[in-house]
Amino acid sequence: MAKEKTNFAIIGLSGRGLGMLSEFVSIEGVQVTAVCDIYEDRVEKGAKIVEEKAGNTPDKYLDYKELLKRDDIAAVLCCTTWITHARIAVDSMRAGKHVAIEVGGAASLEECWQMVRASEETGKFCMLLENCCYDRNELALFNMQRQGLFGEMIHAQGGYLHDLREEILQGRENRHGRLVNFMNRNGDVYPTHQLGPIAKMFNINRGNRLLTLTSMASKARGLNERIKNTRPADYDLRDFAFAQGDIVTTMIKCAHGETILLTHACTLPRPYSRDYRIQGTKGIWMEDGNLIHLEDFSPEEKWEPFETYREKYEHPLWRQYEKDGIRTSGHGGMDYLVLCAFAESAIKDSKPPIDVYDTALWMSITCLSEQSVALGSAPVAIPDFTNGAWIEREPFRRGIYCLEEVCEEFFE
Ligand SMILES: NC(=O)c1ccc[n+]([C@@H]2O[C@H](COP(=O)([O-])OP(=O)(O)OC[C@H]3O[C@@H](n4cnc5c(N)ncnc54)[C@H](O)[C@@H]3O)[C@@H](O)[C@H]2O)c1
Repeated sequence: MAKEKTNFAIIGLSGRGLGMLSEFVSIEGVQVTAVCDIYEDRVEKGAKIVEEKAGNTPDKYLDYKELLKRDDIAAVLCCTTWITHARIAVDSMRAGKHVAIEVGGAASLEECWQMVRASEETGKFCMLLENCCYDRNELALFNMQRQGLFGEMIHAQGGYLHDLREEILQGRENRHGRLVNFMNRNGDVYPTHQLGPIAKMFNINRGNRLLTLTSMASKARGLNERIKNTRPADYDLRDFAFAQGDIVTTMIKCAHGETILLTHACTLPRPYSRDYRIQGTKGIWMEDGNLIHLEDFSPEEKWEPFETYREKYEHPLWRQYEKDGIRTSGHGGMDYLVLCAFAESAIKDSKPPIDVYDTALWMSITCLSEQSVALGSAPVAIPDFTNGAWIEREPFRRGIYCLEEVCEEFFE
C-alpha cells in the first residue's frame, strides 16, 4: 500500500523556487498540491516540474492569500523576495500552516516580532531554510566543536562574498529582487549563510544570545564600474548612487563574550567564499585554504589541510547521506538536507531544527545593520526574541536533522 503523503504548497517560483521545488518533490512523504507566483509563466513552470517529477497536477495560484484559504495544506515553502518572506510567513501561520522561508534579511524588527507572535499564538513553526547549516564542512566542524576539539569558543567569522554584479544589474530584465535592494538599502542584506552555523555552534537562543552589533559600510563603486565597462554610455543607471556599500562589515558581541564578524561583499570582482572561520582556546579552522590548526594535534604553529579531519569527524548525517547517494545538484547537497529537515518537521507536525526565534534573530541582523550604518556605526541593541527564555529553554527535539547536538542514536 502506498504511504500517505503530506500536502505542501510552494510560493515564489523564480530561479530558487523552481530549483528547490525540483528537489522537494522527490522527498519521501511530500506531495506538492499548490504552486503560486505573481507571474503566470512561473506558475506554469512550477506546475510542470511537479507534473513531470511527481506525477500529480498541482493547483495554480497568482494570489497566495487565495492559496492559504485551503485547509488541506499542512505547510508552505516560501521562496519569494527578501521583502515579502516575513509577511507570507505570518499569513501562512495565521492560516494554520507551518512555513519555511528562503534566506534573506528582515526589513524591520516589527516583521520579526510578527513572525514570533504568529508562531507562538498559532503553534505553527516558521523555519528559515538556512542550507549552510547543513553544509558538509559546517556539520563536520560542528561535530568537532561539540567534541571539544576547539576548546572554548572565542570568535567566529563568515559572510557572503559573492560576485553578483550581473545578477544584481539584470534585476529588471530577469524580474529579480536584488537590484531594488542594492539601489535603496545599505547594510548586511544577506547575513544568515554564515551566521546560521555560527549561532548554532555558539548556542545562541539556547544558553547564549546576541547582544549588540555595529556595522560599517564602504563606499559603493562596484556596480557603477561594471556598468561603465559593460553597458552603453546612455545606460540609465550608469551614474546611479547605489545605496549599498561594496563591503559591509558587522561585529556582533554575544552574552558570553564571544565575538562574530560578518562580511557582505557582492559588488566587487572576487571568487566565491563564505569566509568561514572559527576560533577557540584550542584551535582554529578557516575556509579559505580549508586549513586547520589544533593545539593538541597539529605541528607547532603550522596549518594542516582539513580533509583528513573532516573524514574522521564527518557528521553522521553526511555519512548516511553519502551512503544513500548525495544529490549534488543543490549547492553540493545541502539544499536537499535542509528541505528534508523542513519536510520531516512538517510531516511529523513537530519542532523544526531552526525555529522562529532563530529565524527572527538571524534575519533581524539586516535591519539592525542598516540602522548602525545609518547612525555612523553606532552600536545597536539586538532584541531577545525569546523574551528571556534563552537562559532556560524547553528541550529541543533530537533527531537526525538536529542542529543543537549530534544525535548519534538516530543513525545506524
Ligand atoms: N539558500 C540559498 O542558497 C539561496 C540561493 C538562491 C536564492 N536564495 C533565496 O531565495 C529567494 C528567492 O531567490 P530568487 O533568486 O529566486 O529571487 P527572485 O527575485 O528571482 O524570485 C522571487 C520570486 O518570488 C515571487 N514573488 C514575490 N512576491 C510574491 C508574492 N506576494 N506572491 C507570490 N510570489 C511572489 C516573484 O514573482 C519571483 O518569481 C531569495 O530570498 C534568495 O535570497 C537562497
